[in-house]
Amino acid sequence: MAKSLAGVALLAALFITVDAFRPSGLTNGHATFYGGSDASGTMGGACGYGDLYSAGYGTMTAALSTALFNNGASCGECYRITCDYAADSRWCKKGASVVITATNFCPPNFALPSNNGGWCNPPLKHFDMAQPAWEKIGIYRGGIVPVVFQRVSCYKRGGVRFRINGRDYFELVNISNVGGAGSIKSVSIKGSKTGWLAMSRNWGANWQSNAYLDGQSISFSITTTDGATRVFLNVVPSSWSFGQTYSSRVQF
Ligand SMILES: *[C@@H]1O[C@H](CO)[C@@H](O)[C@H](O)[C@H]1NC(C)=O
Repeated sequence: MAKSLAGVALLAALFITVDAFRPSGLTNGHATFYGGSDASGTMGGACGYGDLYSAGYGTMTAALSTALFNNGASCGECYRITCDYAADSRWCKKGASVVITATNFCPPNFALPSNNGGWCNPPLKHFDMAQPAWEKIGIYRGGIVPVVFQRVSCYKRGGVRFRINGRDYFELVNISNVGGAGSIKSVSIKGSKTGWLAMSRNWGANWQSNAYLDGQSISFSITTTDGATRVFLNVVPSSWSFGQTYSSRVQF
């Protein structure tokens, strides 16, 4: 009995180890900030998460340069960003790092008063961070700091959320609060009267389907970019309507 219990525990531990998102290696880049000290200017954004507070992202967010944004495929990814104190002891806070979620795109030649024009041009690896996140690693007056960054696992409170926009034969589903790898590789949708149907990325974290699902309960299957899959069975009740958000209890 004790032996089989130990076996189960070992299996569970193995499963968790295999399933967990593994941090990437370290890469050099730079970081600026935008949006003001209350991060008010960072709401919305090219990933389509909307109000970042209600979507669960808070102010620890950043806009990614072209080289990192990957046309929206990187939306939801988490990065640990450490100020490169060895390279800039003047404006870096020593040993300071912060974990941010990618919620926006920093377009090329994007000129802001913080003087980050050109920093988001390809092939530069650049984070334009919400000001409260940036100030955890850099000194305000510096405006820009060299950083060392690494993709890390995302820890999110609560389950994955689904917001259904669209009408009739067009569902545009915005998928937020994704833990683990954070970014999504593929999504399938299933009405209670349909089989599983592949969805396609429309923009950012918005996935689309042309199925007619009115009056049916809806399930989703999501595979994140590290290959982990979760099924959200009947997460949307048959009484659903467009413009509503449905929260699951399932997380990566
Ligand atoms: C995405 O969903 C969140 C809530 O889950 C909402 O605040 C936001 O406005 C939605 N974005 C879009 C583009 O519908």
